[in-house]
Amino acid sequence: MKAAVIGYPIKHSLSPKIHTHWLKEHQVEGEYTAIEVSPNNLEKALGTMQAQGFKGCNVTIPHKVACVEFLDEISALAKDVGAVNTIIFQEDGKKIGTNTDVAGFINNIKQHQPDWKFKEKNICVLGAGGAARGVCVGLIREGVDKIFLTNRTKEKAEELQSLSPEKISIVDWENKGDYFANTDMLINTTSLGMVGHPALPCNITLLSKTALVTDIVYNPLKTVLLDEAEKHGLTTVTGLGMLLHQAAPAFEAWTGILPTVTNMLEQNIIKAMHNT
Ligand code: ATR
Repeated sequence: MKAAVIGYPIKHSLSPKIHTHWLKEHQVEGEYTAIEVSPNNLEKALGTMQAQGFKGCNVTIPHKVACVEFLDEISALAKDVGAVNTIIFQEDGKKIGTNTDVAGFINNIKQHQPDWKFKEKNICVLGAGGAARGVCVGLIREGVDKIFLTNRTKEKAEELQSLSPEKISIVDWENKGDYFANTDMLINTTSLGMVGHPALPCNITLLSKTALVTDIVYNPLKTVLLDEAEKHGLTTVTGLGMLLHQAAPAFEAWTGILPTVTNMLEQNIIKAMHNT
């Protein structure tokens, strides 16, 4: 079983560690590597992997949207999100694209907060980039009532609103706190709070005490947002589990085995993060 993650740059990807763990655990002979592919080499790289007998690959920045034109088919979910993160090279020669980031986000919350239900909840989503789109698609599929979407660049939020104008309302970035009292879950999908990026301007004390706070940033594992939320007594879920949970259905697509995301794997990946 040969598979890989392709991106540019790709050196720091944790995906090989995750998939190698599962290959060993399930005694599947094979390897999962990280391959650096520059944007102008994308089509050729996909063809080469297929010719070399790869079962498929994961796709990361900056290829998630660009790869679509080189695929034969993409799933309905990948169409909704407008991005592919998993490719399957079928035996009939077809290249099929799908998106497991949506399941990654939702299953991370379900694993860490099994009693938390999405149905009929009010959610505040910070950011309107590619990651926010996947998160909103997942939230809508899970049956949330309302999404308050806020982004520094309002036009991008308006574009994303077209996904579901009846569920998504746009909130001014500067006044996002006005909606916090009515929010059951706050999600940061921006790059703010990531190592090397500015902190997220956000007054979490305005949130209700029962609100759940999550961040898709996982480096650092405990972002300032999550730290402040914890200190305020709120329940939090870190972003690392999203990476693990998007990997599981990709592994299944290539091997037929759906692996379990265990705490031990999560701890191993945290250790690996500290060593890179
Ligand atoms: P991704 O695909 O990972 O979501 P992206 O499409 O570049 O990445 O989106 C990054 C998100 O972080 C956007 O919502 C971006 O806001 P803009 O649309 O206004 O650019 C947000 N972001 C990045 N830096 C920011 C900053 N300094 N202040 C506020 N938002 C920021």
